Amino acid sequence: MCLAIGLMLAGAFTLLSPREVEPLLTWDDSAVVARGQAIYAAQCAACHGVNGQGQSAADGVASSAPLAPPHDGSGHTWQHPDYALIQLTKAGESDASCKSLDKDAMPKFEEALSDRQIVDVLSYIKSKWPTDIRAEHDAVNHLYRGQNAAVRDMLDLTDS
Ligand code: HEC
Repeated sequence: MCLAIGLMLAGAFTLLSPREVEPLLTWDDSAVVARGQAIYAAQCAACHGVNGQGQSAADGVASSAPLAPPHDGSGHTWQHPDYALIQLTKAGESDASCKSLDKDAMPKFEEALSDRQIVDVLSYIKSKWPTDIRAEHDAVNHLYRGQNAAVRDMLDLTDS
């Protein structure tokens, strides 16, 4: 159901903005990735794992709380287009996602991190994926290029 709506939205946005769009996550920019690596270590690694491996039951998370999923190529993070990853990190929800993140399990980063820092840390996460997973993610982004462009227009991506 959500996928069907997402695909319809993707089609509508594609008609509205036919131009090709630069990806939001510049995982091949070494300065962006270096900044993102430091942010990941400080803000994300405690839950998502130093190497993006995610949490397991052995990490002592309360049994009622959702585990932090892996951010490496073994997880499903790469199945979300750039704009959805940004929305989920900022606000715990995305119009691409049927379900909001558990508000007690992961902080919303919209105040702790700037838009620039959120894009930096997600670019770092993408830089760690194997080449084939990055290519799959590029294909997801292509499908959602209209939404990526619309969200880019709302972000402040000047260097911090
Ligand atoms: C306190 C633990 C915690 C911290 C710190 C944390 N997360 Fe999460 N994160 C979670 C949990 C738990 C979920 C799954 C929530 C759910 O399923 O409702 C999640 C889910 C996500 C998701 C959506 C699922 C996916 O993989 O696609 C993204 C994106 C995400 N986190 C990004 C980040 C980023 C980026 C940071 C650092 C800036 C971060 N998280 C820091 C616990 C955390």
